[in-house]
Amino acid sequence: MNKFFLITMLIVQAAIAQNSLLIPSTLSGTDINLTLQNGTHQFYNGIDTNTMGANGNILGPTLILNNGDFVNFTVNNQLAETTTIHWHGLHVSPENDGGPHTTIAPNTTWNPSFTILDKASSYWYHPHLHEKTNEHVSKGISGLIIVKDAEATALNLPRNYGVDDFPLIIQTKDFDANSQIVSPSNSDDIIMVNATIDAALIVPEQVVRFRILNGSSMRVFNIGLSGNKTFYQIASDGGLLSDNLPLTRLQLASGERAEILVNFSGMNGQTVFLKSYASEFSNGIYGATNPGMGAGMTLTGYNPNPLNGTDFDIMQFNVGTTTATPVTTIASPLVTVTPIPEANSDMSRTITMSPVTTGQNQLNGNFYLNDVLFDMNVINETVPLDNTEIWTITNNSAIAHPFHIHDVQFYILDRDGNAPPQNEQGRKDVVLVKAQETIRFIAKFEDFSSTVPYMYHCHMLIHEDGGMMGQFVVEDALSVEENELSNKLKVYPNPANNKIHIILEGELNIDTIEIIDQLGRIVLDKKINFSEDSIQIEGLSKGVYFLRIYVDNLNITKKIVVK
Ligand code: C2O
Ligand code: CU
Ligand code: CU
Repeated sequence: MNKFFLITMLIVQAAIAQNSLLIPSTLSGTDINLTLQNGTHQFYNGIDTNTMGANGNILGPTLILNNGDFVNFTVNNQLAETTTIHWHGLHVSPENDGGPHTTIAPNTTWNPSFTILDKASSYWYHPHLHEKTNEHVSKGISGLIIVKDAEATALNLPRNYGVDDFPLIIQTKDFDANSQIVSPSNSDDIIMVNATIDAALIVPEQVVRFRILNGSSMRVFNIGLSGNKTFYQIASDGGLLSDNLPLTRLQLASGERAEILVNFSGMNGQTVFLKSYASEFSNGIYGATNPGMGAGMTLTGYNPNPLNGTDFDIMQFNVGTTTATPVTTIASPLVTVTPIPEANSDMSRTITMSPVTTGQNQLNGNFYLNDVLFDMNVINETVPLDNTEIWTITNNSAIAHPFHIHDVQFYILDRDGNAPPQNEQGRKDVVLVKAQETIRFIAKFEDFSSTVPYMYHCHMLIHEDGGMMGQFVVEDALSVEENELSNKLKVYPNPANNKIHIILEGELNIDTIEIIDQLGRIVLDKKINFSEDSIQIEGLSKGVYFLRIYVDNLNITKKIVVK
């Protein structure tokens, strides 16, 4: 660091008295170890706030993974409670996905391992425990995942982590009088980036890349720079865009990511603020003055706070001097984006979002997807493996909900019949569905089929925890013989609590019966060689299982519920 830079830095820091932005450490390679732990973090100088973190007191390390690598993960839960870790946006098998069925008890270790199949972009990981996602994320566990691939590496983009390539995990939280995190809360009035309140970052005088994640529980941001300075979006949730997109505003809902470039050339000594222009939000968005759509435009439970409907600073950038090998141009074009043509669709599915109570104007009073709340024991949708599907999401409520689906990246076909804006024409895994809006997306459900379900849900975490979630299994289609067998297999009662009867009609004998849990583990295995049997199940804990029978070279599976 040259002397001039150092002096500039000191002056800038002294004049503004901000907190320097925390930059999470990194983990890379093919063995990734995460330890989840309780801890404390000083959001406010001298005051300890109780937190949860991965490999530290707050947030988690940034994982840098290469497309094509087979990676072994060790997730050791040293928290005082059960949780899960979900790799948001990554295309992995349901067993590796870390959804609510894949729990990690305290003092135990979870070892997923999988090949990184995703395109270069910014993903993230966070807990996903049933009804606890919001609490565990709010208390601190979240980390960014950077995926690299050859196509992106060939581009002249800033990629020096912590030098010209920075993660920005933007969150709002609510603190009580003792500076402890309140969760759930609709009074999230404290803004932070990488767990730093009033964050400031010294950026080099050149093109800088920011990987922005909206890691908030509820709030939508309308990202912009002070003075309406132009920035360039280069990536959406699951991949680079076809070309850089000059923008002055970028709306990001909970769970969404975007990579942007900002050109600080010629700006040494200047300060640029990253802001949310929330005054520009239309009604029906969490973050607007009055997010409701009905009479008076209010929502029961929406607490007025200083961030609602106003333009506020998220953090500041203080421009220093250039690095040794600066990127000075905005790369163009970027990559070839190949959206799935609508004509490839095998079928369509419809998901409606609606408030549980008849009144439209509620914020957290629970929302249905297709008129039901989430039930751990109910599979809501079954998707044939390799299906290309159009999902139509209609929001019949008074507030915008970010819809997220596991397993796939999708392409938005339209919003209320109109082509999506340019920055939504790339790969996405979260889409903000505005109040009363209908969006359609297309996705292909390939590579992984299992009896373990994937999730789809609202990414406003209070809504998710309140049951605005569904689950789907991807099923490998049965052969004709298997189908015939399946029709002849009778299993009753189902649900059952102590004994289950299994009868295979016709001439054939069952060789083996297996019962498999949601994680794919065989919990019962019995050789029979008869066409009929009854098995004791009272040793099994409540939940969904799969009963698999083997007959000659065939096997078929039926879902059973133990109550
Ligand atoms: Cu980011 Cu199902 O979650
Ligand atoms: Cu996810
Ligand atoms: Cu929602």
